[in-house]
Amino acid sequence: MNDTASQTFLVLNGPNLNLLGTREPETYGSVTLSEIEASSTAHAAQTGYALDFRQTNIEGTLVDWIQEGATSAKGIILNAAAYTHTSVAIHDAIAAINVPVVEVHLSNVFAREEYRHHSYVSDVAAGVICGFGPHGYILAIDALVGMLRDQS
Ligand code: DQA
Repeated sequence: MNDTASQTFLVLNGPNLNLLGTREPETYGSVTLSEIEASSTAHAAQTGYALDFRQTNIEGTLVDWIQEGATSAKGIILNAAAYTHTSVAIHDAIAAINVPVVEVHLSNVFAREEYRHHSYVSDVAAGVICGFGPHGYILAIDALVGMLRDQS
């Protein structure tokens, strides 16, 4: 692990999260992904961490980024969006690395359609946060900071 890794969390966002702000606002609210990035970055800075905040609509790119996070980050915050419910490849990428991953969803997936109740991420994640909207990213940062503090 390099020096940057010791102070960085990788925040990965999956498909359609680039549309936050206008996408199904009754479910996801009106806050944009850029606004989530700004508030999360400000919060992380208060805890002494930098964020590497990214979004992609492509499953394989998420796999590449999770692998990259194994050496570039101290922890990963992952909202894999719809791939949460479909991707064995993302499950396997998380299982292959030793960096803790916090699964985040803006909405309470358990209060929604049944196909959203299963996650390929949860059993390989350090923990899961869902239903708190953009605040979930803040909670995830605090969870990682707490975990890493406990480990040191
Ligand atoms: C989501 C929940 C997923 O079920 C959905 O496919 C998304 C967003 C959330 O943040 O609530 O795209 O991950």
